[in-house]
Amino acid sequence: MFFTQSGKRRIYLDHNATTPVDDEVLARLSSWAIEWGNPSSIHVFGRGPKARLRDARDLVAKAIACSPLEVVFTAGGSEANNMALKGTMAAARARGDQRRHILISALEHPSLKRAAQSLVRDFAAEIEIIPVDRSGQVKVADVQSRLRPGQTLLVSVMLANNETGVLQPVREITQVVHAAGALMHTDAVQALGKIPVSIRELDVDLASFAAHKFYALKGAGALFHRKGVALEALIDGGGQERFRRGGTENLLALSSFGYMCSRIGEVNERAERMRRLRDEFESQVRQRIAGVSITAATSPRLPSTSSLVIPGVDGETLLMALDMDGFAVSTGAACSSGSPEPSPVLLAMGLSRDEAQASLRVGIGWSTTSSDLNEFLEALVRVVERLRSLRGFQMPQARDESCDVLEQVVEHA
Ligand SMILES: Cc1ncc(COP(=O)(O)O)c(C=O)c1O
Repeated sequence: MFFTQSGKRRIYLDHNATTPVDDEVLARLSSWAIEWGNPSSIHVFGRGPKARLRDARDLVAKAIACSPLEVVFTAGGSEANNMALKGTMAAARARGDQRRHILISALEHPSLKRAAQSLVRDFAAEIEIIPVDRSGQVKVADVQSRLRPGQTLLVSVMLANNETGVLQPVREITQVVHAAGALMHTDAVQALGKIPVSIRELDVDLASFAAHKFYALKGAGALFHRKGVALEALIDGGGQERFRRGGTENLLALSSFGYMCSRIGEVNERAERMRRLRDEFESQVRQRIAGVSITAATSPRLPSTSSLVIPGVDGETLLMALDMDGFAVSTGAACSSGSPEPSPVLLAMGLSRDEAQASLRVGIGWSTTSSDLNEFLEALVRVVERLRSLRGFQMPQARDESCDVLEQVVEHA
C-alpha cells in the first residue's frame, strides 16, 4: 500500500503501464523461488524447475489457444516485438527470400516501431506506415491497398492500443494479409488479461505478450510463433526455447505468468466490471468537466482505458498535480512520459498538438473500485479548475474541430 505525505492512500489508475503483482502470485513466490535449479539440468535439481517451466508454457498456450510448442518465452513485450520483426526478416534473408516490404500501423508501441526502423538499416527494408483516423482504428482496406504480393513480407498491427485502448480488426486484417502471401504479427501486450485473446480465432502467425500487464512479475513475456514460420533467434545460447531464444529462463517470473494464465477464465467477468466502472467514470467526467472529450469514444475499446482530452490544461502538469494528490495516471505511453513531445499515437489519429498535449490516460485495473474513481474524479475536477484559472482559460464559444468531436461523443452517449 502506498501513501501520500499526508497519509492518504494512493490510488493507482495506470494499469496500462503495468499492473500490481496479484496477491495470489505474491503468496506463491517463495515456494517457486525455493526450487532454484536450472530447468536445463538433467540431475534432480533441474527436474522440478523443468516441470514448472513446462507447466507455465502449457498454461500460457491454453490461455491464448495455441500449442505449447508455439510459445517462445521472452523477457517481455519489447523483446517479443523485436523478435517478431527482426527474427522473421533475418530468417527470410537467410533462405534467400528477397521480400523487404513491411507494413506497420501508425499506432504501434515504440518497441515495434524502433525494431522496424532497425530493419531499414540492417536489411534495407522498406517500412510503410498504415495510417489511422480519429476513430483510432486501422481500416482493413488501408492494409489491403498497401499490400504488395511477392514483396510484402510482414504486416504488424496491434490488437489493443496502449494509449486509447482501441481494438483493431486483427482477424480481418490477417485474412487479407494471408491472401497476399505475407505474414501477420500482432502486439497483444495490452489485450491479454483485459479481453479474451485467442490465437486460433485471430489466425496470426506471430503475437507478443507481457506478463507484467497481467498481474504477474516483470521480466517475462512470450512470442506466439506459429509452427512452420521461419524465425531466427535474437539471442543465441544453449538451445533453450528450441533454439529460438537462448539463455537460462527467468523461471520465477514465468511461473507467475503461467499462474495468471491459469486464471484466464476470470477475464470476462473482470472485464464487465471494469467496463461498468469506466463507463460511469466517463459519463461523470463529461458532466463535470466542460469541454472534455474522450478519444475514440465510439470505437471498440478495451473495457479499462479512458483517454481524455481536457482543453485548457497541460497533460504533464495535470499528471504531476494529481500525483501530488495521490493519484497515478499517465499522459500517454509510460515510456514517453517526461518527454515534452505530444503522443505520436494521438497525433497519428489526427488530434492537434494542443489536444494531444492536453491528454490524460486513465487505466482501470482488477482491484479498482467505484470509490477510487469517485475520489479521482473529485480531484480531477478540482485540479482542472485550478489549472484553467491559473491560465485564465475560458471554454471557446466558437465551433471548432474539437467541438465537433465532442458533439459526436455526446450524441453517441
Ligand atoms: C502495446 C505494448 N507493446 C509492447 C510493450 C512493451 O512491453 P514490455 O514493457 O514488457 O517490454 C508495451 C508496454 O507498455 C505495450 O503497451
